[in-house]
Amino acid sequence: MKNLRGFGSDNHSGAHPQILDALTTVNNGHAPSYGTDDISIEAHGLFKQKFGAQAQVQFVFNGTAANVMCLRLACDSYHSVLCADVSHMNVDECGAPEILGHTKLIALKSVNGKITLEEAQKALIRKGDQHFAQVKMLSITQPTELGTVYTYDEMKQLFSWAKTEGLLIHIDGARFANAAVLLNKTFKELTTDLGVDLLSFGGTKNGLLFGEAVVILNPDLKKKAPYVRKQLGQLPSKSRFIAAQFIAYLKADLWKEIASHSMKMAQHLRILVEGLPQVSVTQPTDSNAVFATIPQAWIKNLREQYFFYVWDEHTFECRWMTTWDTQLDDVKSFAKALQRTHQEVHL
Ligand SMILES: Cc1ncc(COP(=O)(O)O)c(C=O)c1O
Repeated sequence: MKNLRGFGSDNHSGAHPQILDALTTVNNGHAPSYGTDDISIEAHGLFKQKFGAQAQVQFVFNGTAANVMCLRLACDSYHSVLCADVSHMNVDECGAPEILGHTKLIALKSVNGKITLEEAQKALIRKGDQHFAQVKMLSITQPTELGTVYTYDEMKQLFSWAKTEGLLIHIDGARFANAAVLLNKTFKELTTDLGVDLLSFGGTKNGLLFGEAVVILNPDLKKKAPYVRKQLGQLPSKSRFIAAQFIAYLKADLWKEIASHSMKMAQHLRILVEGLPQVSVTQPTDSNAVFATIPQAWIKNLREQYFFYVWDEHTFECRWMTTWDTQLDDVKSFAKALQRTHQEVHL
């Protein structure tokens, strides 16, 4: 029988019960639409508490739209944005950043998913040259697509360079709560206090049913935000249903509980699999994913029991991702399945 809980992604799990409760509670009576209701206003206040009084939040339906909206807010059509070669914006958004964000992406060679200062500096060229799309923004993913987390010092170093060069700063934070827990910093310390201008703040991968938040920290970028969101088809009319989820997520630190749990499960998984024959863990496990190569011959058998993604079709590097409802037993059974597969294939 197929296992119900796999290691495919943190968006394979359902909604956290406290999030569902919040949805049920708000599903009562009528309320004004398009973000003018009390729940949306309360959520906005909560984001201000977490990020600073200047923060403006715009809810959108998904992470790709959040990123695209940040690009539209920051850039004109002749601009470009520095991002990691492995970033979601660069490889997994089907060109939406270029087509809908009206921006050229400049993909930088990354190390364990992270942009290095050296590569960023090398890419900042041809300022004022009308033939070249002018670099306007640095975008990092925190945590990265490879389950690593920029240290606080790495963030500080990259961001202070970007500010010196007059660049705006964007964070794709689809799993930002994980970074905050790992680094033991507040959201404000990791964004506003470091001069971040725009943040795509994730909900769906962290226990929400759906919904992401574009957090605008640079006051100069606020004015056009409502219009850009509407043009992108991302203005939720029943906004209170996204807002209520974020209130439940942020208010009583549910975000910390979910992030801590899923990252703890990833640590357990790493410990259990890294000693196994022919399993080579390839990335540091800072967040909620373990990356490892396994023999190609194991993949079909294993995926019949547990779904997961083969991250690299050439090296058979796989991604095993944990989430808010991953149980220790799931992790143990998966490690056993790896062991069994090794024995069966080598009989
Ligand atoms: C880092 C990162 N950013 C953005 C997204 C886009 O989210 P969505 O699939 O909701 O568009 C994802 C989704 O996997 C992601 O992992």
